[in-house]
Amino acid sequence: MLTAKIITFGISKGGCSKSTSSGITSYLLSKEEKVLAIDMDGQGNLTNFLTGEYDICNAFEGKTVLEAILNEDARSCIIKIKENLDMIPSNDFLATLPRRMFEKGLKLDALQKALEPVMEDYDWIIIDTPPSLSEQTVMPLSTYSEAGSYAVIMFDGSMFAYYAIPKFLEIIEGAKERYNPTLKTVGILFSLIDARAKENDVMEESVDEDYPNLKFKSIIRRKAATRRLAISGFDGNTELKNAIEYYIPFVKELKERVR
Ligand SMILES: Nc1ncnc2c1ncn2[C@@H]1O[C@H](COP(=O)(O)OP(=O)(O)OP(=O)(O)O)[C@@H](O)[C@H]1O
Ligand SMILES: [Mg+2]
Repeated sequence: MLTAKIITFGISKGGCSKSTSSGITSYLLSKEEKVLAIDMDGQGNLTNFLTGEYDICNAFEGKTVLEAILNEDARSCIIKIKENLDMIPSNDFLATLPRRMFEKGLKLDALQKALEPVMEDYDWIIIDTPPSLSEQTVMPLSTYSEAGSYAVIMFDGSMFAYYAIPKFLEIIEGAKERYNPTLKTVGILFSLIDARAKENDVMEESVDEDYPNLKFKSIIRRKAATRRLAISGFDGNTELKNAIEYYIPFVKELKERVR
């Protein structure tokens, strides 16, 4: 049974808080349910973030999402982060993915095949993608689940990210047509929003007008404690509550939207 809800965080604009948001969302969901977080970006930021390991090339060699996809079986590439939270890491070798997939004749449903053996072990599969519209983004969007497959579009309030939204929506449509007919855009998440920036209201209005009902009501504001999470991690972090404050209403809203 394909029973995990899949949530893919993406936008082709870099630095919109995809990794931070997918990491904190995984952490919060795992307080009550079983979560598998997947790093589809060779930068390995989600891997760093959740494992605290910085030498990702050596630490996870041969046991990353690259091998999961090439072997069409994720089981040997899953590591335990904490109670209820597992992850499939990535590292720089993910750059070889397109070539290796081509050599093996794999298609864009390869991640789907890799995840099928483990999908019923989790309530949620949370996927971080790179700032590009490559295979690494298309494959998560192409991954089907009976419980639903969803995309969260990250938006940092900038003009460049605004231009990237329709492109991401196009990729979603493509994945939907070819592999994943039930894929839904669950919402646009405003993140890294600076309370003092004058253009925020205009951006919010534009997004509301262009994409009615897509903007999450919860907005993630820019916060030094949130940025420092990448340094201090979740365990024993005395400012954790402050760092993840804005994500509590977001995760609640996310759950309501996918119900
Ligand atoms: N709410 C926030 N407040 C302050 N800093 C944040 C917040 N969210 C993310 N950051 C910081 O902003 C930077 C970009 O975030 P992140 O790496 O999560 O973005 P990304 O979209 O995954 O980037 P990339 O496109 O490179 O994958 C990081 O330094 C991160 O720590
Ligand atoms: Mg990232």
